[in-house]
Amino acid sequence: MKVLVTGGSGFIGSHITDKLKDKGVEVRVYDGVMPSHRKDIEFYQGSILDITALNFAMNGVDAVFHLAAVADVKDVYNDPYYSESINVRGTINVLQAARRANVKRIIYGSTTWVYSDAEADKVDESTPLHAPSHFYTATKLAGEYYCQSYSKLYEMEVTILRYGIPYGPRARDGAVIPIFVRKALNGEPLTIAGDGAQFRKFVYVEDLAEGNVLALNSIAKNKIYNLDGKEKVTIKQIAETIQKILGDVKIEYIPGRPGDFSGKEISSELTQRELDWEPKVSFEEGVRRYINWYKQREEKRETEWARLDEKLKV
Ligand SMILES: NC(=O)c1ccc[n+]([C@@H]2O[C@H](COP(=O)([O-])OP(=O)(O)OC[C@H]3O[C@@H](n4cnc5c(N)ncnc54)[C@H](O)[C@@H]3O)[C@@H](O)[C@H]2O)c1
Repeated sequence: MKVLVTGGSGFIGSHITDKLKDKGVEVRVYDGVMPSHRKDIEFYQGSILDITALNFAMNGVDAVFHLAAVADVKDVYNDPYYSESINVRGTINVLQAARRANVKRIIYGSTTWVYSDAEADKVDESTPLHAPSHFYTATKLAGEYYCQSYSKLYEMEVTILRYGIPYGPRARDGAVIPIFVRKALNGEPLTIAGDGAQFRKFVYVEDLAEGNVLALNSIAKNKIYNLDGKEKVTIKQIAETIQKILGDVKIEYIPGRPGDFSGKEISSELTQRELDWEPKVSFEEGVRRYINWYKQREEKRETEWARLDEKLKV
């Protein structure tokens, strides 16, 4: 079986490729940049805006995980026009190339943000959605709708996965956990505005990747599943977990709004029931793994600079 992962060089996509490889699946990555986490992956470089390159990449492929996107909401906010081209038109290109190549299944990486404007506080896959306030969510939802249209019109099997907030090795540096870890390792205090009681649910990226692979099960065809974390974690807990792992870390409180985040309660019960998926890695263990990865990355960078300095000595 051969699987193509668009965006397979990115944070979540790279972990999906790892899990697929673990299960003995042949993997091909399609991305604008080369995968840097391992070398034993077939790689097609290209943009999802390039339909000809996509057509070549789909050759002999049985299933596609489509993750390539402008995934950072700040980037989408700054450049909605470009983001729409990648997240929406890019998705149609992937669907069209897959249809042309008779790919059996498309798995689309969406987000639990699609529930942000729903009326209910407790939401699941059957909750009616409202027009989203954020442009990022609008593009991801458009992608979902196009997947569903392709499934109905052209009898393609489609699975939509709505991811919670992922964290773990290879995460983007700009997210809250990476920022706190970098500060802590640089000896800077972790600053919390307000009482730090604002909470989020995070999903460890390898758990998320496992859920993606399970979605290849035939029961998942033409279904939507939430893949969200289990534990509610406050900002204060994030800081304290990092302090517990690293030891000498200062936490400072500055005036700010009290914890007022009333996020939706997102159910992943259907995913648990039908795909036998639930997150396994605790928040503390996940942060520990992120810190280990981060330290190794920084050490490698320093060693490489030192080696170059040595070579450039006059
Ligand atoms: N990270 C999150 O918080 C989060 C949460 C929910 C859903 N998602 C979704 O999961 C998917 C992956 O997100 P991520 O966090 O791994 O992002 P990422 O930015 O780490 O990875 C995205 C990958 O897509 C590639 N890419 C971007 N534009 C491309 C193009 N035009 N052609 C080919 N490749 C292109 C990038 O090079 C990158 O490797 C996205 O679809 C995102 O919307 C992410």
